[in-house]
Amino acid sequence: MDFRFNIVGDYLPLFLRGTLYTIGFSIASIIIGSLLGLAIGFGRMAKNPVARWPFVAYINFLRGTPLYVQILMVHFGVVPFFYGSTNALISGVVALSLNSAAYSAEIFRAGIQSIDPGQREAALSLGMTGRQTMRFVILPQAIKRMVPAFGNEFIVLVKDSSLLALIAAPEIMYWGNTMKGQYMRIWEPYLTAAVIYFVLTYLLNKLLAYIERRM
Ligand code: ARG
Repeated sequence: MDFRFNIVGDYLPLFLRGTLYTIGFSIASIIIGSLLGLAIGFGRMAKNPVARWPFVAYINFLRGTPLYVQILMVHFGVVPFFYGSTNALISGVVALSLNSAAYSAEIFRAGIQSIDPGQREAALSLGMTGRQTMRFVILPQAIKRMVPAFGNEFIVLVKDSSLLALIAAPEIMYWGNTMKGQYMRIWEPYLTAAVIYFVLTYLLNKLLAYIERRM
């Protein structure tokens, strides 16, 4: 098999630009998704089943349908409805954030519920309010336990953002598909894309391991 390095060279600037978009989509979505997920996670823990229902439905729907379908619904339905026209950058961030929020909500819930109820009882018996207990006792411990799960979520986002090529968001896979279309070759575009994703997730893994060790 001949591997035409020269055409990879020609496309490298585009792949690098695509890499910046991939990183941008992932960072924006992990931030927006986790903030949204925090709110949804708290809603999911409401004691009243009626109040809890919409949050449970949200989580089940977004985890129970393919991201592929969600991206198309957001791009051709949700974003045109609110924004007036399609826009791949907005759709990309919205679709990934909404999807990630469902998973983040469960990470928050699992983290918070993993703290022994005795902690809460002790804080309350010291005269702390429910809010103070959450803010000063539960969350600081729970967040530590959530770090590995959020690291994992970030890595998933880097890889799943490749689905945004579907709506022509100019990330790594978009340029891979473009290159495949131009040269009708398989290994040069897709192996290049795979190597870039691998380097990204490898570095991210190292960074996460470092952060976990520091904590
Ligand atoms: N690949 C999954 C799908 O097609 C999405 C998984 C998202 N997972 C996550 N932890 N954010 O539906």
